[in-house]
Amino acid sequence: MKVLKVVSYVALLMVMVASLVACAAPATPAPAAEAPKAEAPAAAAPAAAKEITYKDMTMCYPQLGAESDWRTANTASFKETAEKLGVKLIFSDAQQKQENQISAMRSCIQQGVSIIALPPVVEDGWDAVLQEAKDAGIPVIIVDRSVKADPSLYAAHIGSNMVIEGEKAGTEMNKLLPDGGKIVELSGTTGSGAATGRAEGFRKTLAKNIEIIDSQTGNFTRAEGKPVMEAFLKKYGSEIKGAFIHNDDMAIGAIEAMKAAGLKPGDIKIVSVDGTRGGFQAMADGWIQVDVECNPLLGPQTMELALNILNGKPYDRETLTKEDVYYADKAAELLPGRKY
Ligand code: AHR
Repeated sequence: MKVLKVVSYVALLMVMVASLVACAAPATPAPAAEAPKAEAPAAAAPAAAKEITYKDMTMCYPQLGAESDWRTANTASFKETAEKLGVKLIFSDAQQKQENQISAMRSCIQQGVSIIALPPVVEDGWDAVLQEAKDAGIPVIIVDRSVKADPSLYAAHIGSNMVIEGEKAGTEMNKLLPDGGKIVELSGTTGSGAATGRAEGFRKTLAKNIEIIDSQTGNFTRAEGKPVMEAFLKKYGSEIKGAFIHNDDMAIGAIEAMKAAGLKPGDIKIVSVDGTRGGFQAMADGWIQVDVECNPLLGPQTMELALNILNGKPYDRETLTKEDVYYADKAAELLPGRKY
């Protein structure tokens, strides 16, 4: 009986071991001919570097302010483009203060954004924060106005050539005042690339018989443009034959002052910059004679540029936007088609 018991235990044990081995055994390998052909080389090859898409991108946009219709259009262009492409946009409004832009950039650096697009309120004073972004491996695209900083501290600039805008304005003023005369200048924000560039370009092309008798800043706003023109009118009266005004918002403020002083459209020939709907309306009404375009719709190009930079693709360090010059006689016709 005992012998029988041992034999049956051994038999049981053998059955158990056999079934355990069967469970643990690898599945019979598929015949080579049946293996999925595309997978083997793919698994063997090193993983290809994954391209960054718009949806992977976090862009920091420390906007400089909301001083003008141009700026409103520029903000909308960035927000709408980000929404459309799926880019995460970290937006802030620095209220025309450089220190606010710098702290917004520092916060973006801390958050580890993919890229910073900076529209600098003024040209100087960016080196430290640009160096911080560089040290953190975050590329910076300078948007709209220029900076005076070592070019190695930023990846690219996209926007307008403000000197060329000023040159165009000077050429147009010459045509408006062929016999020369005294003019005033309402300048943009002091120290901004837009103001210094436009002032420089304007003086380059202005005819010798035209004299700039005064130049004051209106900080690119309607509210500050109006009192500047009031003061000019008080001081120089009918001596003023023309005005170079660095943007449409200041021109609209200046026109209010001119109306209040009893002037008529065309009494002072105005060359303005931007080409906003407000500027076009003032041209249609006869107050502005020429508007030199400055394009604020930079969102799509900036985001495409950012993607190329992040993916290590070749890109242009300097991208200038296409801009035209508009005249009063066509303003009413073109106004409905203006995008900003
Ligand atoms: O830098 C662009 C300028 O800034 C625009 O001409 C002006 O309207 C804006 O405030």
